[in-house]
Amino acid sequence: MSQRQQFKGRSAFIFAAIGSAVGLGNIWRFPYVAYEGGGGAFIIPYLTALLTAGIPLLFLLYAIGHKYRGSAPLSFRRMSRGTEVIGWWQVGISFVIAVYYAVVIAWAIRYVGFSANQAWGDDTVSFFVDDFLQQSGDFGMGGGWVVAVGVPLIIVWVFTLVVLRAGIQNGIARLSQVFIPLLVAIFILLVIQALRQPGAAEGLNALFTPNWAALKDSSVWVAAYGQIFFSLSIAFGIMITYAAHLKRNTNLTGSGLVVAFANSGFELLAGIGVFSALGFMAQAQGVQVAEVVESGIGLAFFAFPQIVSTMPGGAVFGVLFFVSLVLAGITSLVSIVEVVIDAFEDKFNLNRTASVALIGGLMAVVSILLFPTATGLNLLDVTDHFANSFGIVGAGLTIVILLSWGLRRLRVMSAHLNEVSSFKVGTTWMVLLTVITPLILGFMFISELVDTIQNGYGEPAMPSWYVNTFGWGMSIGLIVIAFILAALPWRRGVVEAEAYELSQKGANR
Ligand code: ALA
Repeated sequence: MSQRQQFKGRSAFIFAAIGSAVGLGNIWRFPYVAYEGGGGAFIIPYLTALLTAGIPLLFLLYAIGHKYRGSAPLSFRRMSRGTEVIGWWQVGISFVIAVYYAVVIAWAIRYVGFSANQAWGDDTVSFFVDDFLQQSGDFGMGGGWVVAVGVPLIIVWVFTLVVLRAGIQNGIARLSQVFIPLLVAIFILLVIQALRQPGAAEGLNALFTPNWAALKDSSVWVAAYGQIFFSLSIAFGIMITYAAHLKRNTNLTGSGLVVAFANSGFELLAGIGVFSALGFMAQAQGVQVAEVVESGIGLAFFAFPQIVSTMPGGAVFGVLFFVSLVLAGITSLVSIVEVVIDAFEDKFNLNRTASVALIGGLMAVVSILLFPTATGLNLLDVTDHFANSFGIVGAGLTIVILLSWGLRRLRVMSAHLNEVSSFKVGTTWMVLLTVITPLILGFMFISELVDTIQNGYGEPAMPSWYVNTFGWGMSIGLIVIAFILAALPWRRGVVEAEAYELSQKGANR
């Protein structure tokens, strides 16, 4: 097994981790979740989620990767033999998320170009769905490959794999050290342009005016935890993978705090930019801000193009917005793909080039074949929902229950964190992970499960055969595949790998 590559220093790691955290979720999801969740009052569930689950779990995942020095499956395997499967489950979830996440970046690349001449015309929805994506509305796979999406998607994958081939430090860290400052600079320009528009103040009022009554609604709290989870890239396996590439004496908790607050800071900035722009659009159309608020695809590809068409200097605004999506998306995508590549490198004793070419190549092929098709949008929708609601939340829940109640490793993990970190963790951290986090994650998982079983998925509801195949089937399939991969023999034997890794200078058990 080749020696594990390392981040050159703490700041390289922090940039990579911020690059992973700051992604599409910050820009197109946070503003809407905050608005729906009580505006200014949302600060309470948001900070609660960050402090009681987000940051404690981030620390725990860093501790796992840093202590056991392996990709997600190897780290779990070293922790306790039977738990390797959890690592492979995370690898599967990351595989699924990466193959559709890349597609959104490809759309954004095309929209940078479309912004220049406002190619979408008057009807941005029909332009996106019918003209650009050429959706048939059918449920299935295939139905014609759309070149206009497929070509930028190929570019996204080639770029991602080239970065990953360059490695942890020379690829991922360097990319994030360039792209994250660039993203922040571009986004600040965008926010300034948005704030100068008439109506911006109404937009900000809509976002920040507190609606305290919203806090009585449990779904608002669940949404806050969901946002924190997706946004901090928790339970994808990314944080375990990255922490395994850190030098022995790295301040883990201090780094985690920087990453978490930088991520939240960017979310706030995104909220300001997005709502100033929505306020402008509402005023231009003579309607209330509430009538133009959107999230996700609707925000980025329906509402923003309208804003671009209406705003003086809209072309520049559009370019800034879609370039931001591309930069934020790419730095997250590399981290998600790394989880998969690293895992196969460890288990099958592959070198970097082979794992990037074979495993990264496989992901690229799946993504390029399935998603730029006439049925790709429905497929993206259903896989996104299940990978998040049941994959990420389920894996996060399993990990906290396993470490706190099953293997009872929290004390060992806190000792490990405290040995190398400035910010010490103690009883509060353990109580949060033993009681609060499992309760909340359990509630989220079960309520989503009951809702999806009772009501199906989609608006309007997707056919049940489709949800059973690509939603439930995919979710259960990932677990089955995880068991199979965990059962396969280690190419060089995990014991040997363990001995090798842990005998490295400064190893600490
Ligand atoms: N954390 C990444 C995002 O927010 C995955 O998009």
